[in-house]
Order: sequence, then C-alpha cells, then structure tokens
Amino acid sequence: MTERNELSHRLAAAGQEHVLQFWDQLDSIEQQRLTQQVTMLDIPLLQTLVEPSGLHHDWSNIANRAKSPSAIRCDSTENRFSRQEARNQGERALRLGKVAAVLVAGGQGTRLGFPHPKGMYPIGPISKRTLFQVLADQLRAVRRACDAIIPLFLMTSPATHEETIDYLTANQYLGLDPASVQVFCQGTMPAVDVHTGRILLEAPDRLSLSPDGHGGTVAALARHGSLKKMEQLGIDYIFYFQVDNPLVSVCDAEFIGYHILAGSEMSTQVVAKQEPGDRVGNVVEVDGRLQIIEYSDLPLEAAERRHPDGTLVMWAGNTAVHVIDRAFMERAQSEAILPFHRALKKVVTIDERGEEVVPDHPNAIKFERFIFDLLPSAKNSIVVEVREEEYFAPVKNPSGASKDSPNTAQAAMVRQHRRLLRAAGAIVSEDVCVEVNPLFARDVSEMKLRLASGVCIDGPTYFASVEK
Ligand code: UTP
Repeated sequence: MTERNELSHRLAAAGQEHVLQFWDQLDSIEQQRLTQQVTMLDIPLLQTLVEPSGLHHDWSNIANRAKSPSAIRCDSTENRFSRQEARNQGERALRLGKVAAVLVAGGQGTRLGFPHPKGMYPIGPISKRTLFQVLADQLRAVRRACDAIIPLFLMTSPATHEETIDYLTANQYLGLDPASVQVFCQGTMPAVDVHTGRILLEAPDRLSLSPDGHGGTVAALARHGSLKKMEQLGIDYIFYFQVDNPLVSVCDAEFIGYHILAGSEMSTQVVAKQEPGDRVGNVVEVDGRLQIIEYSDLPLEAAERRHPDGTLVMWAGNTAVHVIDRAFMERAQSEAILPFHRALKKVVTIDERGEEVVPDHPNAIKFERFIFDLLPSAKNSIVVEVREEEYFAPVKNPSGASKDSPNTAQAAMVRQHRRLLRAAGAIVSEDVCVEVNPLFARDVSEMKLRLASGVCIDGPTYFASVEK
C-alpha cells in the first residue's frame, strides 16, 4: 500500500479522509509533515469524542447535588491540624528533597493576546520581570531557604516550546541550575468542525492542532519519562502550579504540610469567592467526592445558592494550585482517568479551495483535559483556603480589563509588597509603588533583617535579589 493509501484507509474508518484532499498538490516535505500529524492521531478516541453523545455532563443536575466542601479555612474554625504543624511537615519534605515543582505553561494565552508564551509577559510592576522570572525567583528563594534542589518540570506545548527554550537559554535559565530544570512538551488534539465533526485544516499540509489542556500534564509527564525520573530522585509530592499567577506561593510549605498530614493524594488550594459568578472553578463535594465545576458550566441559580447564614454554598474558588502524590499521578496515567471536555471556539481554517476562513462565530470544537478532573479519584483529598490578596492574581485578560489582567495583577503585587514592608516596620504611603523580589526577603522576619525599622520609602522602589 502507498503511504497515501495507508493514511486514507486509517482516516476513512472515522470518516476523516478529507484531511488528504490537498495531498497531490503537496511537495514531499509537506506530505511528510501531514503524514506525521495523521499518524499521531488517536483515531478511535477522536471518533468517540465527536459523537454527540460522547461527552455529556448534566451540569445542572451535578450542581444541584453539590455541597460546600469541607476545608482548612483561613479563620481556622474547624481545622484538624495547626498551621505550625503543617509548616513543619512541609519544610521537612522540602529539605529532604521529596518535592518537585511542576509548572504548566503550554496554554495559547488567547485572551491575553500577547504574541509570545504567556510566561514571557513582563509583569514586574517596576522590575518588568517576566512571569517566568517572578516564579523562578520564588522557587530559588524556597530552594535557598530549605537548602534543597527542588527540581522544576516545566510543561510547554508545540505553541510555546521553542520560544520558551530560547528564552530560558538566553536568560541563563532564570538563575536556576539547568540540570535541575526539565522542559517537556505536552500533546495536542485536533479541532473539529462544530456541525460535521470533521477535523479542521490549518493549511493544506497541516491539521488544526491545539494543546490538549492542562490535564495533558499527566500523560506528558509519563511520556517524557519525568514520572520515572521523579521516582529515581525520591520525589513523593508534586507541587503543581500555572504560569499566569504571579502571587502563587511556589512550593508553599504549609500547603504541602496539610497535604502530608491528611494523607491526601491530591490537595486543592482555594480562595473564598466574592461573587456567585466569579470566573473561577467551583470546588464542591458531590456524592462524597470532591470535584470542580467550571464557572462556564455552573447554572446561575446554583451559583447563587446560599446557606441559612447567607454564605455561598459554592464559596470555594479554585486557584489551580495543587499538591499531588507522585504515586497517584502514576496511577492516574495508567488508568487513564481524565476525561476530555469540549470547548466551542473560533478557529481560523481553510475551505475546500485551500483559502483561509476567519470565522465570526465559534465554528469548532476543541478537546481538552483538565488537571482538576483527577480530584474525584483521589483518596483523602483536601481543600485549603488562602487569602486571595496574598495568593491569587491571575493574568488572563488583556491590559485594561477590569479583572484578571496584567494591571490588576500588578496592583495586587504592589499591595502585597507594601503590606510586607509595613509589617517589617517600614513606612510606605498608599501612592508609592514598591516591588520586592523574594530573594531580597521572603517574609516579615527576613525583611526585618534587611531593613532598618521605621525607614520611609517615599518613591518607587524595587528591592532586588541579594546574596544571602
Ligand atoms: P488557561 O486555561 O487560562 O488558558 O490556562 P491560557 O492558554 O492561559 O489562556 P486562554 O484561555 O487561551 O486565554 C491556565 C494554565 O494552564 C496552562 C496555561 O499555560 C496556564 O498556565 N495550560 C493551559 C497548559 O499548560 N496547557 C493547555 O493546553 C492549556
């Protein structure tokens, strides 16, 4: 059988042979490229996903059965473990080298509209450090405090891989020892036409492929041998975080400690929602298991349900920071427990003449896996609340947007750093812009060692990294 016939045979079984419609016009390199993409497709999987009945969640039914999750709360009302106990446990695990950091940065960042990987966005209010640098500085500060390596596994996608590698190389791996950083690329899924389920083409020799969601981390870690490597390094716990939150407390000892004390396989950090419709995932308990309902799937009346004391039933907003047992991640991979979700999107494609079509309404379905869908399968899963102003300021929307934009994240960073300086005795007025690198001071006690008490900061100041 010729190569074309072989491909055609595979595709015909799923009614997707149109993918080869331009074959005879392609040169051999282009044919090779298309062949490679088609060969990578999981055709039986795709066939089940495009079936209208293939993926159906009755969200209003699930939302009606959903209860508030029990949680370790900021006000410590019902907490099983003390903060200090948790911190000690977490620090111990970090010092013993039992924790790895997994940073996911494979998203296309469509809403932000920045023409580079989102991690390269210059977020530092004064320093203009990129999101990658801000997170790397945090990790370096934890490494320094715990005197431990804490390897970093950084996930990219074909959309962000090369530029991320070039950026890391040009910037000396952001001060991290390159040997302690492993960059791995996640998989992709084809976009299909919303009406026909046929795979869309981006060009005559290219399928329209996009990253398979942050849940793709599980398969990608396994495929690249990273889970094995973690096992060899003696890693038990994975600190999972996303590239778009400059306030994330990377490898937070207290959070890791709660996870260990509870014997949890997967723990989730949350903030208390301010409004029922906040654009965050809602952590809930359904039939005795934790799960997350995305804001876009949550019916308004369910979002607005309240307890008799007036508090929201769905109060717990996901910050997308998790601690996950490495062994559980391995089980999740071997048992393929993550489902796919469909998302309706606008995707630029080509028509049967090969001409570009820019849609003005959603024309495509993309398939993605979400990391939080691991939750219902995890044993002893816990939820840990943190204060939004200290831990969560995601960058999703373009500058100028009133929520989740670079401006709102920078303002949150400045407020956080002002609080830190003031708690250490400095005088900083409300209109002064400040930024603190955690390699200058990570907390109040370190800040007190660096600053004379009562010092007045009366102009924009960046407290840059200093040697210990
Ligand atoms: P989002 O779901 O917010 O997507 O990703 P995004 O790509 O940043 O932005 P939009 O939706 O296109 O505007 C949350 C986190 O998950 C990562 C992102 O890089 C970000 O850190 N992510 C998302 C992946 O690593 N891979 C994916 O396939 C999707």
